[in-house]
Amino acid sequence: MKNKNKKFPDGFLWGAATAAHQVEGGSRNDWSEWEKKNAKRLASEAKTKWAKWQQKKFPEMFDPENYISGRACDHYNRYEEDLDIAKSLGLNAFRISIEWSRIEPEEGKFDEKEIEHYRKVLKAIRARGMEPFVTLWHYTLPVWFSRKGGWENKKSPDYFKRYSAKIVKEFSDDVIFWLTFNEPILIIGGGYIKGYRPPQKHNIFEAFRVYKNLIKAHKLAYAEIHKKKPQAMVGFTEWLNFFDNRNGIFQTGFLLFLAKHFTNEYLIKQTIGHLDFIGAQHYMRVPFSLSALLHEEKYQENDMGRQIVPEGMYYILMDLKKYNLPIYITENGIPDAKDRKRAGFIKNYLFHVHKAIREGVDVRGYFHWSFLDNFEWDKGFWPRFGLVEMDYKTMERKVRPSALEYAKICKNNYLET
Ligand code: BGC
Repeated sequence: MKNKNKKFPDGFLWGAATAAHQVEGGSRNDWSEWEKKNAKRLASEAKTKWAKWQQKKFPEMFDPENYISGRACDHYNRYEEDLDIAKSLGLNAFRISIEWSRIEPEEGKFDEKEIEHYRKVLKAIRARGMEPFVTLWHYTLPVWFSRKGGWENKKSPDYFKRYSAKIVKEFSDDVIFWLTFNEPILIIGGGYIKGYRPPQKHNIFEAFRVYKNLIKAHKLAYAEIHKKKPQAMVGFTEWLNFFDNRNGIFQTGFLLFLAKHFTNEYLIKQTIGHLDFIGAQHYMRVPFSLSALLHEEKYQENDMGRQIVPEGMYYILMDLKKYNLPIYITENGIPDAKDRKRAGFIKNYLFHVHKAIREGVDVRGYFHWSFLDNFEWDKGFWPRFGLVEMDYKTMERKVRPSALEYAKICKNNYLET
């Protein structure tokens, strides 16, 4: 019965997200260098890192080749075919990132051929009736930039400004929605505090320096983009945890405040006034009270052992309401190689997106992560996040059944209930 369905606002954007290094193939940047140095170690650590069931299900995690991005999905050459699939699924938006190391392989020297490549990609997205969302920096750095100390370098905001200015000059006619960065908090946490990804540091002072430089870089890029195109919409994406302290017997007020402040909130608060929207990305529940800890077993897990907690999305969105900014969910997804849980995941999470919209949160779009199976950073290729399945040997793409379920929602602009 149609009137019972959960209708989304008119003009809602339905998309899928990708990132250059994870799908394009053939990159040469700080990550590709890091992969070469760390592939063997990562393969040998898999034995202690993953549960027995995961090791059995994904034996490729023991192969060093799994950790080399190599030709990835060859999306660089096959983007037309991929965008045709996206269109056939009824998507009206598509998220890509531009690979900085292709555009500026040497300091201050821009590669016009690569600019032309991305121009074609953007036109191909538009030609298929989709709105492009463009990330300027999704984790990977040109080698020259990382050799200069990356985001620790005090000139890093200026380097980023120069790159952004060039991109915006070239593409401002084709793009309205810009994301300066992807998940700065993971860069800081993963690269400078826990140190499991490049540049593999464990230094809180450097982490703060990077925080500061990223904020400055965002503001500079924000100004550049608006100078060229005042009506552009500029934001960044942030990794937002659901800190679950429901029914807290043992309340963790101050700790919770700190955890939320330094992960979900700090960068958003520091950039207010230089943000036209929030790019919300949600994957994880973090139990934050004794009773939440005690209820661990209630949740199903995905292939990476992360819990599936659809109501987390509702809490995240309600928390963002205070900023009074439009919200686009720029990532939310599940590694699920057998595609048994993905359709349910999408519907249940969207149920909670809809609930938040009904309660006044200004959510204007949802991008599923990911469009294609892809290279999952330090985990390599075994986690399968795609609406579209990849055969990495033949490069054949296969639309998963869950993608067809998602397509129904995108085409109808409502969720059947
Ligand atoms: C990142 C993606 C990543 C995804 C799944 C997000 O944090 O933006 O690049 O593949 O999570 O783990």
